[in-house]
Amino acid sequence: MTHRALKQIIPALETSDGAGVKIKRSLGQRQSIRMDPFLMLDEFGSDQPQDYIAGFPAHPHRGFETVTYMIEGHMLHEDHLGNRGNLRNGGVQWMTAGRGIVHSEMPQQESGLMRGFQLWLNLPAAEKMKPAGYRDIQPEDIPAFSQGGATVKLIAGEMTLSGGQVSGAVTGGSTDAIYADIHLEPGSQLSLPVPASHNAMLYLYEGDAELITGGERTRLPASAASVLDDGDELMLEGGTQPARVLLIAGKPIGEPIVQYGPFVMNTREEIEQTLKDYQSGHLTA
Ligand code: CO
Repeated sequence: MTHRALKQIIPALETSDGAGVKIKRSLGQRQSIRMDPFLMLDEFGSDQPQDYIAGFPAHPHRGFETVTYMIEGHMLHEDHLGNRGNLRNGGVQWMTAGRGIVHSEMPQQESGLMRGFQLWLNLPAAEKMKPAGYRDIQPEDIPAFSQGGATVKLIAGEMTLSGGQVSGAVTGGSTDAIYADIHLEPGSQLSLPVPASHNAMLYLYEGDAELITGGERTRLPASAASVLDDGDELMLEGGTQPARVLLIAGKPIGEPIVQYGPFVMNTREEIEQTLKDYQSGHLTA
């Protein structure tokens, strides 16, 4: 059993996307800053409507999956397949762009707090052109478990704990992704298995917490991707304030990535074909 230590810190940069929504981007702020199989992680959070009200009007994707986790607020997803999903406090939208999707994500509130994350999960070459798909996951359908003052909401992945096996709302997939929202009470300790086969990172977004490795303690930076070193176990301890931390892990794909905005393929030729398909109205069929 090896505890994972902190390897690299990627502070989030403030930027904007969609029609001017303010976000903090850690993974994906430059194309060289990724953690295979994850391409991008955006945190959005504001109680100022001008920061989010314009939303993300209709736009395309091809070649990967987007996972939106809403902590606070109300967003409506609509896509060319006719899917319509209401994303509310604690809900998740898992969208597989596959060969192509055109969708919009628009705020359904005119005031108040809007807070959440969007994660981009890459697909291997063999799956990039699979049919688009969409899952709306309600907050009550996300399994949660507690361990000594800590609560873990398991959005994706499977974990073998001393009390048995816990399966997240989404399991399987070629990268076997783990996505968990961890709540730590001050002073609580949490130990979780994270397979050695996976790349893993933490993202502290509230309060303070420490990563424990052997005899060492490392304070987690806020609003930054804390990329972890090799190992098969993760140990966290709550600090002086209740903390909330995302755990994101997955098996690396290890293929070349060529990205052009919302399209992520393996080669330049595939990107050129994607642009042709989009311009001629054949992205999605
Ligand atoms: Co999108």
